[in-house]
Amino acid sequence: MYVVGGSASGMLAKELAKCLKARLAKVEMKRFPDDECYVRVDEDLDGEDIFLVQTGWPDRNIIELFLLQDAIREFDVSSLTTVVPYFGYARQDKQFKPGEPISARAIARLIQLQTDEFMTVDVHSVSIIDWFDNVSAKNVCAYTEIGKFLRSKGAQVILSPDEGRWENAKRVADVAGCDADFLVKERLDGDKVSITPKSLDVKGKHVAIVDDIISTGGTIIKAAEQLKIQGAKKIVAACTHGVFANNALDRIRPAVDEIYSTDTIENPTTAITVAPQIAKIARD
Ligand code: R5P
Repeated sequence: MYVVGGSASGMLAKELAKCLKARLAKVEMKRFPDDECYVRVDEDLDGEDIFLVQTGWPDRNIIELFLLQDAIREFDVSSLTTVVPYFGYARQDKQFKPGEPISARAIARLIQLQTDEFMTVDVHSVSIIDWFDNVSAKNVCAYTEIGKFLRSKGAQVILSPDEGRWENAKRVADVAGCDADFLVKERLDGDKVSITPKSLDVKGKHVAIVDDIISTGGTIIKAAEQLKIQGAKKIVAACTHGVFANNALDRIRPAVDEIYSTDTIENPTTAITVAPQIAKIARD
């Protein structure tokens, strides 16, 4: 068994190889002068079960993913499982206006052309899994690993920034052994809103705001501001996918005490690996 890691998922591929007791494939990667991508798998993969790991964001990593799938398919592999830890375009999962593509579906259709199985992690919209209609597709949950990590950091309250993601916060809190709540927005008058936890008092507490994605940071910053007003002692932000678009980290850092993310997108806040959860689902 081999794990093949794309250039966006080297850390995770290494961890997954350890968890699966598989070999980590040597892969040559470079860019041509015109920025086109070149990949070459420097192993004999004939007869092997392969896990290909490459995150699906930004666009250049998606192209690399397709090239790696093709390179692997040139061997006579026993099976190919494509693991896309962060499924880019997942928030474009419907037509908002006529004439638009359903971008997440377009990506799903292309990925499944060249794989036997597909896995992703905390996909923003689970309906995306159903678009893999020709291959087995699974959504791996990172919240157990986030919960273990936040327990080790001494979090006392796990907060979802809104009710829609409350189930995720609850899963993290169950593992972390603490309380969970979600923030509710209440309009006080024409231009004043208050955002408070639904039922818990955060005064003097170590609070972790947990979300699936941090992109611009707007959601986390707003939540952190309110928690400060309510007297939280320590505020940390944790997410599965640290996108941090347009230097969002520079804006979020002053608003919270610490920021943590998983290795679905490798970035300076990556502190949690999802490899054990991927390996667990792979073995089931
Ligand atoms: C929304 O549905 C998601 O769960 C996240 O809350 C959102 O993607 C975060 O985006 P941003 O960091 O841009 O506020």
